[in-house]
Amino acid sequence: MEVCRLENVSKTYKMGETVCPLKNISLKVSSGDFLSIEGPSGIGKSTLLYIIGGLLNLDEGKLYIEDKDVSLLSDRELTTLRGEKIGFIFQDSNLLQALTLQENLEFAQRISNKGKCDTRRIDELLERLGLSERKGFLPHSLSGGQRRRAVVARALINNPKLILADEPTNDLDEKYAAEVISLLEEATKAGSAVIMVTHNTKWAERANIRYRINDGILEII
Ligand SMILES: Nc1ncnc2c1ncn2[C@@H]1O[C@H](COP(=O)(O)OP(=O)(O)O)[C@@H](O)[C@H]1O
Ligand SMILES: [Mg+2]
Repeated sequence: MEVCRLENVSKTYKMGETVCPLKNISLKVSSGDFLSIEGPSGIGKSTLLYIIGGLLNLDEGKLYIEDKDVSLLSDRELTTLRGEKIGFIFQDSNLLQALTLQENLEFAQRISNKGKCDTRRIDELLERLGLSERKGFLPHSLSGGQRRRAVVARALINNPKLILADEPTNDLDEKYAAEVISLLEEATKAGSAVIMVTHNTKWAERANIRYRINDGILEII
């Protein structure tokens, strides 16, 4: 089943020097796909994830999420779609700073599960990400690596159809980096699609489809 599709998407930034990181990109992502996106720093990888997540306007082209043309949605509809369908693992954390880690995960489940909470899933993710002892902590009192793992837990807690991961293994030691990649792999086996930006060839090799951005174009590796 198709999860998202880009059709002839271009993006130009006109702040100061004009930069055109994405030129006429088309991409189709289906349920069960694990994509990696590679390329040097500043090439447009994060821009691509922001666009797919509906967080950045397109200059040209179309974005479809589950066959819905995102440009036809109201801001409110887009926010709902993001909340229900997409898990974000980005540098700027998706955690609410006033809530503990446990409360963040419960809150995320309540807003998307009609008020219901699945404590088993929370416990499982916290355990696997080595955060069980930290569940009562506020995000600011977690270390960089713990916060990154907490962001992963938050992104996966509702089993989103589409997971966007921007360098998800940064700040993590080998053990937890491997755990995060395993969680992403399991999500694809359960029917989600994952798009992961990474510099790390070893983790990129775990993807089923590898792309590189080169001069605004998406090339298959
Ligand atoms: N909000 C912005 N305004 C202006 N230029 C931007 C903005 N965001 C990114 N850029 C520029 O677009 C290019 C691609 O950035 P980015 O997508 O963050 O690359 P990557 O994630 O591959 O390192 C870079 O040259 C960057 O400076
Ligand atoms: Mg980036």
